[in-house]
Amino acid sequence: MRIPDELERLRARVSELEERQTRARETEKELQVSHARLAGILNIAQDAIISIDSEQRIRMFNRGAESIFGYQAADVIGQPLDVLLPKRSARVHRRRVEEFGKSGHVARMMGERQQILGRRKDGSEFPAEASISKLSQPDGQIIYTVILRDITDRKQQEDELKASREELRRLAAHMESVRDEESRRIAQEVHDELGQSLTVLKMRLMAIAGEVGPPDHPLHRKVQEMIDSASGIMQTVRRIATQLRPSLLDALGLEAAMRWHLQEFQEGTGIQTELEFEKPEKEPDSQLSIALFRIVQEALTNVARHAEATRVKVELAKVQEPVPFVRLIVTDNGKGFDIRRAHGKSLGLVGMKERALHLGGDLSIQSEPGQGTKIVVCVPLERGGD
Ligand SMILES: Nc1ncnc2c1ncn2[C@@H]1O[C@H](COP(=O)(O)OP(=O)(O)OP(=O)(O)O)[C@@H](O)[C@H]1O
Ligand SMILES: [Mg+2]
Repeated sequence: MRIPDELERLRARVSELEERQTRARETEKELQVSHARLAGILNIAQDAIISIDSEQRIRMFNRGAESIFGYQAADVIGQPLDVLLPKRSARVHRRRVEEFGKSGHVARMMGERQQILGRRKDGSEFPAEASISKLSQPDGQIIYTVILRDITDRKQQEDELKASREELRRLAAHMESVRDEESRRIAQEVHDELGQSLTVLKMRLMAIAGEVGPPDHPLHRKVQEMIDSASGIMQTVRRIATQLRPSLLDALGLEAAMRWHLQEFQEGTGIQTELEFEKPEKEPDSQLSIALFRIVQEALTNVARHAEATRVKVELAKVQEPVPFVRLIVTDNGKGFDIRRAHGKSLGLVGMKERALHLGGDLSIQSEPGQGTKIVVCVPLERGGD
């Protein structure tokens, strides 16, 4: 080969190498930029972002992780992941990560069904929400990346919400029982005080009537009118007292009281009523009777007010299994309603439900526009005292 040719070939090779070097520098620069970008993201993320290798040793620990776990990255890099977990659950986690490594999934939410707990440097534990992803390296190693969020505050808020709901429920139940007690007291006052005064008044008027002369005497007629009106008022008083506290409930029991109420309802509204009452083994105690009676009252009031029904049926059945309880069903053939829309607006349905819950039972409503309404209440006959 001629020397000039050889020189030319070498020159071409040099410039090719130079070009390659330039490209390599550019790639390196790009890599640096993208590293910096990634580092920026990792630094500002509030969540803990932690990478572990195939041996589950910590390889990367961002600032979020430092502030959540209380460790500096330098303290934990190279340490097993176990240092961030409660001791009792570390083994299970290790196995889960291994299984995930072998699985065909590339990412997964951790603890979807059960909660994940993290362990801080000071040993305290906290509830967390975490997800994991994996990346296979060219050398066959797998790098897992875990993103984890401390949900202590959220959990606390959820717990508080739950507690305040519970409190509200107790308060509602308490209010119902206060209202029942108050009604009972007023009913008694109305019945005893007003009722007796009216009886005395009527008797006195009758005595006067005997003294004012013959029955056709104008004064006698006036007194007779007063006697009639006293009788009318007495009836009203009795009705009010009975509505406040169905005395039949105490005197004759739940069935008679319900029958009476349905009869009154039918006469007052023209809506045909039907009662099917299967006597429980033992008469429900007074608290349960009142609750069932009030539920029927409210359900019937709703039928009269909203349902545009022509028929309503009340059924009470005893059920023995798994524990003795009663099932009360009120069905109307009215226009029905959209249950989702009724929520939160008024107190009738809520009050019924609270009564049932307070007695350790439950209430469900089945209704759809145009399909009538069915209210089903199940309550145990015996309660662990409260
Ligand atoms: N049997 C029924 N048929 C049709 N709609 C009903 C029936 N029962 C309830 N509803 C609907 O559900 C809503 C809620 O009932 P709820 O008893 O809670 O409240 P309300 O009767 O409107 O007021 P209140 O608080 O005085 O009872 C009613 O406004 C009505 O639209
Ligand atoms: Mg109502």
